[in-house]
Amino acid sequence: MFEFLIKLKWFFKENKWRYISILAVLIIVNVLEVIPAQLIGRAIDFISTGEITLMLMWQLIIAFVVVILLSYAGGFIWQYMLIGGAVKIESIIRMKLMRKFLMMSPSFFEKNKTGDLMARATNDLRSVHQATAWGVLTLIDATTFMGTIILAMGVTVSWELTFYALLPLPLLALIEAKLGRKINAAHKESQEAFSSMNNSVLEVVEGVRLTRSYVQEKDERRRFRGVTDEYLERFMKVERLDALFQPLTILVTMTSFMVALGYGAVLANKGVITVGDIVTFNIYLNMLVWPMFALGMLFNILQRGNASLTRIYKVLDTEDDVNDDGNDVIGNTDMNFDDVSFTYPLSKRENLRQVSIKLKSGQTLGIAGRTGSGKTTLIKQLLKYYPQGRGRLVIDDMDIGRLGKKELREKIGYVSQENILFSRTVEANIRFGSPGATEEELQEAIRLSALDADLGRMPYGLDTMVGEKGIALSGGQKQRISIARSLIKDPEILILDDALSAVDAKTEKRIIDNIRQSRKDRTTIIVTHRLSAITHSDVIIVMEDGEILEMGTHGELVENSGWYSVQNDYYQTGGAS
Ligand SMILES: Nc1ncnc2c1ncn2[C@@H]1O[C@H](COP(=O)(O)OP(=O)(O)OP(=O)(O)O)[C@@H](O)[C@H]1O
Ligand SMILES: [Mg+2]
Repeated sequence: MFEFLIKLKWFFKENKWRYISILAVLIIVNVLEVIPAQLIGRAIDFISTGEITLMLMWQLIIAFVVVILLSYAGGFIWQYMLIGGAVKIESIIRMKLMRKFLMMSPSFFEKNKTGDLMARATNDLRSVHQATAWGVLTLIDATTFMGTIILAMGVTVSWELTFYALLPLPLLALIEAKLGRKINAAHKESQEAFSSMNNSVLEVVEGVRLTRSYVQEKDERRRFRGVTDEYLERFMKVERLDALFQPLTILVTMTSFMVALGYGAVLANKGVITVGDIVTFNIYLNMLVWPMFALGMLFNILQRGNASLTRIYKVLDTEDDVNDDGNDVIGNTDMNFDDVSFTYPLSKRENLRQVSIKLKSGQTLGIAGRTGSGKTTLIKQLLKYYPQGRGRLVIDDMDIGRLGKKELREKIGYVSQENILFSRTVEANIRFGSPGATEEELQEAIRLSALDADLGRMPYGLDTMVGEKGIALSGGQKQRISIARSLIKDPEILILDDALSAVDAKTEKRIIDNIRQSRKDRTTIIVTHRLSAITHSDVIIVMEDGEILEMGTHGELVENSGWYSVQNDYYQTGGAS
């Protein structure tokens, strides 16, 4: 049960003064809170013995008010500090998760589904928040409060009565501990169901257009209902078990009340205690209900917090599978793929096989080949997205393993096959490539990527919002914004992965010509299905099933009468042959 607190030891240590203050304030408030019952008991005794005077009554009332005001102020202070602590830990862990998400390589996101990661960053984090706020509160408060009350009962009324009245209580703790275990198992299951429901929501939202166009709404709804029902069922199981707790507590405390009244009356008859004592004692018993109840919940809250924290730590403790120990920096961009082979972490077959390419700084490499032949995979190896496979990939005479991910990627401008734009303005999307770029650099990037004419047609030009809150852009416009984003960076290595597929042939030519001119001495890698984009390359490779099928210049490959020349003829004749 205390695992949760041990796991968060670092936090409690860092904030030890906060928690020591909370403890101190709580103890003061607890002591204050037992006073009113005393005052009431005394008042009753004064009245029954006829000793009451107006003066005495006023004194009692003023003491009452002062105590209440003080405990109110104390209550405010500890609550504020305690919840503050919980909010703090929540935001610290959330930042850690965020940093992790930003740092991890693609295989992490292939193994962990988005909805599941989101569940950890929301629902699980809430459980941790709750455990740090209410769990810790109960732990400190319920125990000290209980102790104070029991002490007050024994000292001011009677130890004997206290003993008998509290006899049924350990029973409660026993039963609750047993139920608690079941609740936790149920909670874990419900949390997992929540994760998969989260995933389904994401899928439904992301695929809504597809669903509509295939008129699959009904099926989707049915599928989603299944997932929601599953969650509902598991959640209700937790609630059902939870609901068993409360009546139990009431049952046990009722027994205590009966003992207190019955045996209290006996003791009062004997003259051991007064009537006022019985009233005071019963008020105390009543005050015990809350900490009793809270202690029962404590077990749950802490266990839940622990289960959630374990799920969160599991993500935080995942090591990135791409090594990032190196910190060497490249000077030139001479590249050498030497017998590079690679298999994706989740793939069953080799995705790159003995690929060897030499490319000098400033040269252009064209990559062609059937879909699924390994073109993007080759690029991703260069970007250090995945762990290295066999063979050596050398840039500037340095093995890529020796280069830091950050240092390497800073040199590269990469336009991926999937265009990803943020829901920001067109300008912000372009400037993302180089936040410090000047106005001239921005204009140059726009010119090179042939975006100028389109900007004129957009309602607010560069300030047009893109994505969810903005206008829908065409595929070609998105691609060119992505290209502008990479060009504004003026990278030493530019990589276009099928980045012109949605652009018409004329615009494509314009962009390729611009890139050729502006990047004369810089390395450029172009992956394409349209050979016209790479005819000018210094080296062209054709990939097939993870291997290099053909390699050479455009002229050489056309002579070769292999896949390339067949494709080339097909293209030249407009696909008529
Ligand atoms: N993350 C991944 N995990 C496992 N296998 C993958 C992964 N990404 C791609 N593959 C597999 O690797 C092979 C090569 O894929 P790749 O994306 O490199 O093809 P490509 O040549 O870029 O194709 P396209 O022209 O369609 O973009 C394919 O068989 C694909 O199924
Ligand atoms: Mg690809």
